[in-house]
Amino acid sequence: MPLDVVLGLQWGDEGKGKLVDRLSAAYRCVARFQGGPNAGHTLYRNGVRHVLHQIPSGIFHEEVICVIGNGVIIDPITFYTEITALDGLGVAWRDRLWLSDKAHLILPTHRLLDRLSEDAKGEARIGSTLRGIGPAYVDKYAREGLRLGDLLAADYRHRIESGLQRHLDHLPSELHPPAEDLEAFWAACQCLSQLDIRPVEEALLDWHDAGADILAEGAQGTRLDIDFGDYPFVTSSHTLSASACLGLGLPPQAIRRVLGVFKAYATRVGNGPFPTELHGEQADRLQRLGHEFGSTTGRPRRCGWLDLPLLRQAIRLNGVTHLALTKVDVIAQLPEFQTLGVDGQWHRFGGWNPENDREQLSEPACRFVDFLRLQLGCPVAWVSVSPERDAVHSVADWA
Ligand code: GDP
Ligand code: IMO
Ligand code: MG
Repeated sequence: MPLDVVLGLQWGDEGKGKLVDRLSAAYRCVARFQGGPNAGHTLYRNGVRHVLHQIPSGIFHEEVICVIGNGVIIDPITFYTEITALDGLGVAWRDRLWLSDKAHLILPTHRLLDRLSEDAKGEARIGSTLRGIGPAYVDKYAREGLRLGDLLAADYRHRIESGLQRHLDHLPSELHPPAEDLEAFWAACQCLSQLDIRPVEEALLDWHDAGADILAEGAQGTRLDIDFGDYPFVTSSHTLSASACLGLGLPPQAIRRVLGVFKAYATRVGNGPFPTELHGEQADRLQRLGHEFGSTTGRPRRCGWLDLPLLRQAIRLNGVTHLALTKVDVIAQLPEFQTLGVDGQWHRFGGWNPENDREQLSEPACRFVDFLRLQLGCPVAWVSVSPERDAVHSVADWA
């Protein structure tokens, strides 16, 4: 049972990337299993901030193999931009970034269709990142999609042209992508076809049989799951722990531990229900203190109090074995903050000086963590007190 899963328990942006980066060194492999460039995972390396959209957050650990699983969808242009940035940083990624031949491709027309679908919804729009996620998964499940494996075929250009044409036939010509966009797309496809595309489930199964440790990195969050989130204000993939098995090709009993990541408050980008949402000055202050602007789109994130009834449900749906709490330094800066308890009652806490949590957790921080552990009935293994890689305290036994 060598598979550990890190995933978000709220509406995404819980700090998954930071936790995965922090834990990666202990694993043979870090793998993404769902979602695509709608994700934005922020890591700090030598004090410099990096946002990864499609590349697993283990990439800065040069002993670790990074895998893109079959459940992921890949935008060649964004992918090309990301690997070019890694080259610029001098990160050796070429031999250790493996892509599933079964992962689907996002075409420029998928992005266009995403925008048209959102525009048509008007006020009822989801607030999608407009990265083409929905339309690309639609094609996958309609069995009309193109996969990374198609890039290895001699006639790959013909295959992709047919896919593009099928979309263009339904679009007025003034909406067709400009020639330079298509050129950039073809160049990125050419580059992608040179990468290590293979049936990655074979290596993953071999590691599984040999007992090697694998870390699965979730994208989005539980409340954005296609079925168990706030439908239709959700993404188009399963974000729950069970999805790690199908999105990588590993059996269910491979899962050993599930680390559920959540912030000390709540945020949501895009539309949809948010029971503990704040408005006005309180919301603005959380947004400012927490720098709550989307890592992918730069949009301001809606802010609110921590909702333990929703969190409890997320723990049960995912079989969470351990919790990771992030952004404690943000909530500490408020003179007073609130949390909706599992009993439906509001619980109030006074703030404290976040500097006191730097070396080890201060007493008020420990009291808050203990309150969460008791309410949620689950051990809190990690507590993050700043965006920096090492600013994570180990609280309960994870090993
Ligand atoms: P992800 O999508 O779950 O990986 O999260 P994002 O990277 O989209 O958003 C999390 C944001 O919070 C990033 O800007 C992180 O640098 C930042 N962050 C993570 N942990 C902490 C923390 O403990 N304190 C503070 N202040 N920021 C944090
Ligand atoms: P990470 O992995 C936060 C939200 C969008 C929108 C809805 C559907 O960084 O936590 P989509 O682009 O999938 O059609 O958008 O889901 N969303 C995210 N919100 N973090 C994410 O990823 C998200 N990925 C999608 O804002 O409400
Ligand atoms: Mg994010």
